[in-house]
Amino acid sequence: MANTILIGAQWGDEGKGKVIDVLTEKMDWVVRTQGGNNAGHTVYVGSQKYVLHLIPSGILRSGKTCVIGNGVVIEPLQLVEEIKGLKDLGIETLGNLFISETAHLVMPYHRELDELRELNKGKNKLGTTKRGIGPAYGDKAARTGLRVIDLVHPEQFEKKFRARMKENNQILKGLGGHSLPVKKLHEAYRAAGDVLKPFVTNTVVKIHEAMRQKREILYEGAQGSFLDLDHGTYPFVTSSNTTSGGACTGSGVPPNRIDRVFGVMKAYTTRVGEGPLPTESTELSKLLHGLGREYGATTARKRRCGWFDAVATRHASMVNGIGEMAVTNLDGLDSLERVRVCTGYRYRSETFDYVPNDLEVLSNCEAVYTDFPGWQRPTHDCKTWKELPLRARQYLKAIAELSGTKLRLISVGPERNQTIAV
Ligand code: GDP
Ligand code: IMO
Ligand code: MG
Repeated sequence: MANTILIGAQWGDEGKGKVIDVLTEKMDWVVRTQGGNNAGHTVYVGSQKYVLHLIPSGILRSGKTCVIGNGVVIEPLQLVEEIKGLKDLGIETLGNLFISETAHLVMPYHRELDELRELNKGKNKLGTTKRGIGPAYGDKAARTGLRVIDLVHPEQFEKKFRARMKENNQILKGLGGHSLPVKKLHEAYRAAGDVLKPFVTNTVVKIHEAMRQKREILYEGAQGSFLDLDHGTYPFVTSSNTTSGGACTGSGVPPNRIDRVFGVMKAYTTRVGEGPLPTESTELSKLLHGLGREYGATTARKRRCGWFDAVATRHASMVNGIGEMAVTNLDGLDSLERVRVCTGYRYRSETFDYVPNDLEVLSNCEAVYTDFPGWQRPTHDCKTWKELPLRARQYLKAIAELSGTKLRLISVGPERNQTIAV
């Protein structure tokens, strides 16, 4: 198993960080391939909590090489902060982290634009993380973006930066915002460029070298399948391809080198931000928020919660080619008398067993449920499949079967040792 892609099979925050950390024990390299600091991947090492936004979660294990690939959009100041934050916690990144020279930059005007566009949309807002992700990928597609390779060449950067600032300051004013200070920001970003320079390289060549040396490589997905720009609930999506294909374009690894796709899903469903969520449940939201759970790792917003949506996970298996899956947060359901699984969406006289593209349908459909008796026992200390309550095992078997993939890992708590291999 040389090349493994790991993706979120729902709407993000599936517990990818925790699962990546567990899988990384057997990996040599971990590569981020898309998204930016809209991601928040939580990992607990003992009682120490880490939330990673741009640097692959693999950095927390020593001796692993981490890459921020060409498909990622990088906010340079944030990345410098993250590197410093890790250093303060005793984790050295220099020599273990490589940054693609062709990754695009998130600039201050992207953040401002994201914020202003959301504000101007009023009640039709998308609920973005306001990290400038959409505008940054927009510039990439429009061929007006700045890249890491520009940032580390001071003269080139200054020229391009000034030109981009000039245009964007006009746009910001046109949208009712303020123009940004060019000189001050140029200095700040140039300084970040100096810090990042020793990490910057041609990561495509590096990854292919690692493949020739038969290294085990994990491609760390950010966000989730239904936030994918093409396959998600557009326009309530992020601006990158979060499905498995994005890992290839975002790293320069061809599809025929991929050995497996690992899907991560929660034992229920969550979504943060606007957009349809067919299995949304007030009962479950109240329960999980009451336990202090399901608050966003990046924006601290309350995540909306719903029952496990097997229509969505089966669709995700189809689009991503998920062969194996991890179910996280099983313990979140421990206290319930009955646990529900959505097996179809009903809209007027039609029933869907896939996720329809029509948002009108998706927003107004009725979820068709199969109910399972709850196990009503804590699972967080279970170490093996057999130790899990019978009813929990029956539930897990059912959701794996309905999702059309093999169950490989179960997570019953945030820590490394709260993981069961199947
Ligand atoms: P990611 O973005 O997919 O990496 O997920 P997040 O880190 O944003 O959110 C997942 C949350 O669930 C984090 O707070 C994790 O620490 C936590 N978590 C992951 N797996 C489990 C689990 O099995 N049980 C519990 N209680 N928490 C978990
Ligand atoms: P991880 O990697 C959950 C959501 C936002 C919003 C939409 C668009 O931690 O799973 P954006 O800022 O990307 O333009 O926002 O996407 N979103 C996420 N939701 N987890 C994430 O990342 C997310 N990244 C973006 O809430 O609905
Ligand atoms: Mg997250």
